[in-house]
Amino acid sequence: MEPTRGKNILDVVLVKPDELYRETKSAIRNENPPLSPIEEELENRGGHRLTWHRYHQYKDIDSYLGYLAKTHNDICQTEVIGKSSEGRDLKLIKVSNGAANKPAIWIDGGLHGREWISPATVTYILLQLVEFRDQHPELLEAFDWYILPVGNPDGYEYSHTTDRLWRKTRSKWAACRGVDPNRNWDFHWGEGTVTTHDSCREDFAGPQAFSEPETRAMAEFLMAHREQIKIYLTLHSYSQMWLVPWGYKNEKPKDYYDMYVLAEKGVQALQSVRGTDYLLGTSPELIYAASGGSDDWAKGVAGIKYSYTIELPDKGNYGFVLPANQIEPVGEETWAAIKAIAQQFSQMTHS
Ligand code: ARG
Ligand code: ZN
Repeated sequence: MEPTRGKNILDVVLVKPDELYRETKSAIRNENPPLSPIEEELENRGGHRLTWHRYHQYKDIDSYLGYLAKTHNDICQTEVIGKSSEGRDLKLIKVSNGAANKPAIWIDGGLHGREWISPATVTYILLQLVEFRDQHPELLEAFDWYILPVGNPDGYEYSHTTDRLWRKTRSKWAACRGVDPNRNWDFHWGEGTVTTHDSCREDFAGPQAFSEPETRAMAEFLMAHREQIKIYLTLHSYSQMWLVPWGYKNEKPKDYYDMYVLAEKGVQALQSVRGTDYLLGTSPELIYAASGGSDDWAKGVAGIKYSYTIELPDKGNYGFVLPANQIEPVGEETWAAIKAIAQQFSQMTHS
């Protein structure tokens, strides 16, 4: 099944043509097979219900964070940084060995509801970081980690229960529901195309910057930790691209080269796992210009020098409806990339 091959990338990422739905139906049916009863039973023994064999709803991801905080309470701590429009917790987990004065890495996922591979990959990263910490002790020696697997829980749940291709939040400001949380950040907000002021569009920027409780909560947390956080990573899908600011205009920051060189390490490590090809560059260069993104805000306002959007697989064959058997391979290669940039950052700052 090749639901979206040959489509213009702009169409596929931004709008929701009926055609895409029609073609995607059988892909949706096959995307996320339920666990067998035996698997269910085995998976439930650890005190949480999360697996990396299928996509899980918000409550399973949430319970995994609780499980980590309880089982690994020496290094894990959860914090509710805010609530979504529908009242769900925005639960962040801090992974730290407790030593003071360390740089931090922020990773968020699930800002766009339908991009299911994103929260799945973020929890895979958590699994490696926490439950396999002995395999790479240097990562906790060198950094604190702030991880928010589901930045838009309402949109994520809605994409599970009602509309598989739902992208936005679920707030109600105008005729149509939902705001694109990646157009809502207060840095050159609302600049560019006028279409982002239409509430019925997939990329509706909202009635004003930070209209959404989700983006506001994230921004407040980032602002409060801006001195410590050295790398901002936000995981989206799809298209296999590592995007470097600026996203809002076709121009590069003065320190673009520094950002590019670090990202290159990540892309190289990622590609060495199983040859997945990634493009590296700015959003206007590779896809389109769009303002109000979290990556631009993290750099432009919070002053986090290394800020990136990672667009996970695939390149449009399955698109958003990536089969669940891809969670582990995508997790593995993405983890390799993150490890590589963390290690590279440590080297850079210790010489
Ligand atoms: N596909 C992402 C989106 O549309 C790309 C964001 C890139 N960053 C940016 N600031 N334009 O949200
Ligand atoms: Zn996205």
